[in-house]
Amino acid sequence: MEWFREERNPWGQEILIGLSWDLTWAAVVLGALLIVAHALLYYWRWRRAGAKTISETLLKQLPEKILRHSVASRLFHWLMAVSVLILLFTAFLPIWGIKFAWVTPHWIAGVALTAAIIFHIIHASFWKGLRLMWISREDLSDGWLAIKQILGSDAAPGKPGKNPLENKLFHHAVSIATLATIITGVIMMAKVDTPWWNRNPYILADDTWGVIYVAHDAGSIALIALIMTHLYFAARPEKRWLTLAMLRGWISRERYLEHYDQGHWPVRANTEGESSAFAAKQSEGAAQRAKPS
Ligand code: HEM
Repeated sequence: MEWFREERNPWGQEILIGLSWDLTWAAVVLGALLIVAHALLYYWRWRRAGAKTISETLLKQLPEKILRHSVASRLFHWLMAVSVLILLFTAFLPIWGIKFAWVTPHWIAGVALTAAIIFHIIHASFWKGLRLMWISREDLSDGWLAIKQILGSDAAPGKPGKNPLENKLFHHAVSIATLATIITGVIMMAKVDTPWWNRNPYILADDTWGVIYVAHDAGSIALIALIMTHLYFAARPEKRWLTLAMLRGWISRERYLEHYDQGHWPVRANTEGESSAFAAKQSEGAAQRAKPS
């Protein structure tokens, strides 16, 4: 298997033009292996895990609906989802033999994704708080206990806060891959005609373009495996409540008590005369201020 694509320039020199497209199939195989490994583990180990008992007293103290994603977060998620899917299909279908004029829809979706990510960075830094995605020592020790549990030990990891370790790791992997495609994609815009400028590939030397294309391809190929596993988890029946939460914003108080630690993701108790929508709104603010230990 080749790692890179090279071609001969008019002066007869070999120049780097990108990563080998064989790697796209390696990413598909990796994504499929991760999905099958999880499905088998689920079948053997977790399928029969009974529902955890929930304290009725605690339940009554909570609003019925707990806000998990604000409207702004959901809009960002779905804009990102649509633009990434358009980018993946417009990029890889022609490579896999389905030919069409892919460049214009590709860069338009790229500009939409870039705008969505800029919005998300500002929203996450100044409104949501970066601590929500910080990996703490406790996350790591709970992650280690979870691995031991998979291997058959009786170790029991504690309940997580709003974002469990696997969410944070997925977020960081997607961030690195997406930022690599965005930063290089914006530079590659010099190679296409747009309503605002005509293409000018001579702004950079051939070998510099080669490095930029390799980085764009690496981020894109990593996203194939990442998005495959993400779609698999979103479609799993026992995770449907999480997928629904990305549509309607909230989870039930039963799910909240079953899956999350109140210390790490505090939700304000229900008080007389307080509407559940208001209480849910408060809970999001409390979660943002909460410091994962
Ligand atoms: C999910 C994210 C993305 C994926 C999967 C992706 C994938 C790809 C792939 C595989 C290519 C072909 C590269 C090659 O020939 O080596 C490409 C080219 C390109 N991409 Fe992306 N890309 C993404 C994001 C972006 C973004 C955010 C932009 C712009 C802001 C962008 C703009 C471009 C441009 C201008 C080209 C070059 C077209 C040409 O060479 O004529 N891409 N992309």
